[in-house]
Amino acid sequence: MPFNTQQQNQANKEAWDQLYASTPNLVWGSGAVGFLEEFLRPEIARGRSFGKVLDAGTGEGRNLPLLLKIAGALTACDASEAALAKMPSEVKRDVRLAHCDLAKTPFDGASFDLILLCDTVETLPDAAPVLREMRRILAPGGALICNIPGPEGDVAGIDMTEVGQEGFLYRGRYFFRFFSDHEIAALLAETGWQATRAETMTWTEAAHPGFRAESHQHRSRVFLLTAAAS
Ligand SMILES: C[S@@+](CC[C@H](N)C(=O)[O-])C[C@H]1O[C@@H](n2cnc3c(N)ncnc32)[C@H](O)[C@@H]1O
Repeated sequence: MPFNTQQQNQANKEAWDQLYASTPNLVWGSGAVGFLEEFLRPEIARGRSFGKVLDAGTGEGRNLPLLLKIAGALTACDASEAALAKMPSEVKRDVRLAHCDLAKTPFDGASFDLILLCDTVETLPDAAPVLREMRRILAPGGALICNIPGPEGDVAGIDMTEVGQEGFLYRGRYFFRFFSDHEIAALLAETGWQATRAETMTWTEAAHPGFRAESHQHRSRVFLLTAAAS
């Protein structure tokens, strides 16, 4: 059957929602992703504006306590209602939540000074419309932090079956795509972004309940992106 990105996007969103609903535990844990604090440090030192911050594809919100320390106002969105419902109440209290698709958010243009897209680009059957939408809702002078993993690191090697031209399904359910540097450059150019910082970062994550049974290593390019001149 030919690969249909729209159908895969819908199936994927349902798979994530069912995963979050399948366990009372936080699938990704409660601490921020392994690269974030280190990557943010120079931006804090440079005095980057963290006024209005969006965690796009927030999941259960593991990055929100860290973002709350630096943001003037924090918003988080995800396609999974089950994930948003599981977010700890002490985190939810201080965050504006939105349930939406990342390619079509309810936010006005130029709404945010900083957007985080963490562990999400590689899960999208079609990343380009999402990156264009992030550009639309970013304020002038703002930045997008996102990580994009390549084929190295444990995640790409475990229980993946090929789907479509460039994708994989993890455990037959969750879409992943691993990008070469050349593919990342093409994706960013096509969607109007330029890399202001790019680092390769490695971190270890504990097992994820209902998703991955073993502790494992992530290796990812992490970018600070700004809007390219059009
Ligand atoms: C691997 S999880 C990462 C969650 C979170 N950023 C973190 O670091 O813990 C990917 C998230 O993207 C969300 N997602 C996937 N496709 C989406 C879409 N098209 N629109 C909105 N959210 C989406 C999923 O529901 C899931 O919560």
